[in-house]
Amino acid sequence: MLASYDLTGKKALVTGGASGIGLGAVKAFLRCGATVAINDLPSSPRLPEVIAELSAEGHAVVAAPGNVGDAEDTPHMMRRAIDDMGGLDFLINNAGTPGTPQPIPPSDFERQDEDFWNLLLNVNLIGPYRCTKAAANALRESGGAIVNTASISAHGNGGSSSVYCATKAGLVNLTKEWARALAPVVRVNAIAPGAVDSAWMCRFPSQDAGFDRAIPLQRIGTPVDYGEAILFLSAGADYITGQTINVDGGLTT
Ligand SMILES: NC(=O)c1ccc[n+]([C@@H]2O[C@H](COP(=O)([O-])OP(=O)(O)OC[C@H]3O[C@@H](n4cnc5c(N)ncnc54)[C@H](O)[C@@H]3O)[C@@H](O)[C@H]2O)c1
Repeated sequence: MLASYDLTGKKALVTGGASGIGLGAVKAFLRCGATVAINDLPSSPRLPEVIAELSAEGHAVVAAPGNVGDAEDTPHMMRRAIDDMGGLDFLINNAGTPGTPQPIPPSDFERQDEDFWNLLLNVNLIGPYRCTKAAANALRESGGAIVNTASISAHGNGGSSSVYCATKAGLVNLTKEWARALAPVVRVNAIAPGAVDSAWMCRFPSQDAGFDRAIPLQRIGTPVDYGEAILFLSAGADYITGQTINVDGGLTT
């Protein structure tokens, strides 16, 4: 059963919100009556499509195109979106990239070169920092919350690359840092997704037929599953901060 909160008058901003987990979170907030700014890459064809679809359904959505990996772009994108909505209650730092269409084994140091490091650090780790910094005052004013999208790969069990795992481990750590930094007014938590039914650019063995049987709950997580967890950590969870919740159907058990 889907959780329900009355978020009338509340405002959320979701980065990487035009697809997958981000779009799941966008729809969860909209279902509860919030206004939502949807960030995605300016080049994303999905962003205008999603805005058009959701507006036509009568939802209050604001387009916030911008690359969170861009130090100059991001503060402008954040300021415009917060101004357009007239404040901010929930920031969802969800945009991320594997930077590779195929997993890179840990032994392949050559492919994880400086450019690769810089791309993943910029988008997956400094991106959430840029958005959090730009949103901090508005969130302090509203007494809001932040949810970061990390990954179960943060816990050292492998992922699309060592660099990706390191950025997500960093995000788990920053979740605790920012929880302390913004307490007692703003709560900061994270979800760590396992297998995801999304358009993620990196193809995993977990997407092969039959993998779902290796998951205790016997299915791949959907954007609705992840959106629900993000909604709970944002709008509920009044006494939870600094935590990363594995949302993985029991995979890490
Ligand atoms: N798919 C997985 O297997 C998986 C597992 C664990 C964690 N995650 C994390 O979940 C988050 C969402 O992934 P998803 O599975 O929904 O993938 P997705 O590809 O469906 O969605 C990601 C969205 O982020 C956008 N995006 C990418 N780089 C961006 C940038 N620099 N600025 C703004 N937007 C950007 C993309 O255009 C896309 O719309 C990511 O942070 C990812 O690291 C994914």
